[in-house]
Amino acid sequence: MSRIAGRIVAEQIRDNPHSILALPTGNTPKGMYDFLVAQHEEGRLDCSSLTTFNLDEYWGLTPEHPSSFAYYINEHFLHHVNVPPAKTHWPAVSGPPDEAAAAYEASIVHAGGFDMAVLGLGINGHIGFNEPGTPFDSRTHVVKLEKETRQASVRGYYGFASPEDVPEYGITIGIGTICEARKILMLVSGSTKAKALAFALEGPVSTALPASALQQHPDVTIVADEAAAFALARSKKRSIT
Ligand code: GLP
Repeated sequence: MSRIAGRIVAEQIRDNPHSILALPTGNTPKGMYDFLVAQHEEGRLDCSSLTTFNLDEYWGLTPEHPSSFAYYINEHFLHHVNVPPAKTHWPAVSGPPDEAAAAYEASIVHAGGFDMAVLGLGINGHIGFNEPGTPFDSRTHVVKLEKETRQASVRGYYGFASPEDVPEYGITIGIGTICEARKILMLVSGSTKAKALAFALEGPVSTALPASALQQHPDVTIVADEAAAFALARSKKRSIT
């Protein structure tokens, strides 16, 4: 699945070297970044005109913190390719939350919005850090993280020893801004995501399951492994794999 996702993103970059991308973190997209880095190292992918925005961040964790998403994106992608540092973005994580959110949103608007938003999926159906109940027209905002989300952060690569170590708040690009991306690519892996993926694609469109907002978008590609696709109806599964 990493190769398939990597090829889709590489094709986007080759078709439009000036692409504005929203980028996810997490365990799921690691292999996709490995693929893109390998393509770059082989001289097959030029990222010199790209602009990138991280999708979300733990409130309070600066880019030097090894559990921050800014640290992740540097380690797994940006430090290995040639995106000019001035064209890489992540949100502020301190100061008045509304100001940090508005500034990040303004920088996205200034760049021209996303050509492609690449997303992961949370166990509770969140995209970015847009937790259940987030309005579909939301913009960048600071959010209180759900208990489940903080627990998942301990299980993942993030390096937190216990849920109490995980910041209570996150800052995330809103669902409205994500859904204005011209294309959306969502990566989903593992059986813990099966229920959320099935509800997102086959359940009712509802703020109770943030990823169900994608049903209303005209250009969405889902790349899922078999474990994550397990609960999907057969017809959907066939079109996905
Ligand atoms: C976190 C991030 C999301 C990510 C999700 C899934 O909550 N805020 O952006 O998509 O985790 O991560 P993983 O791929 O590690 O399961």
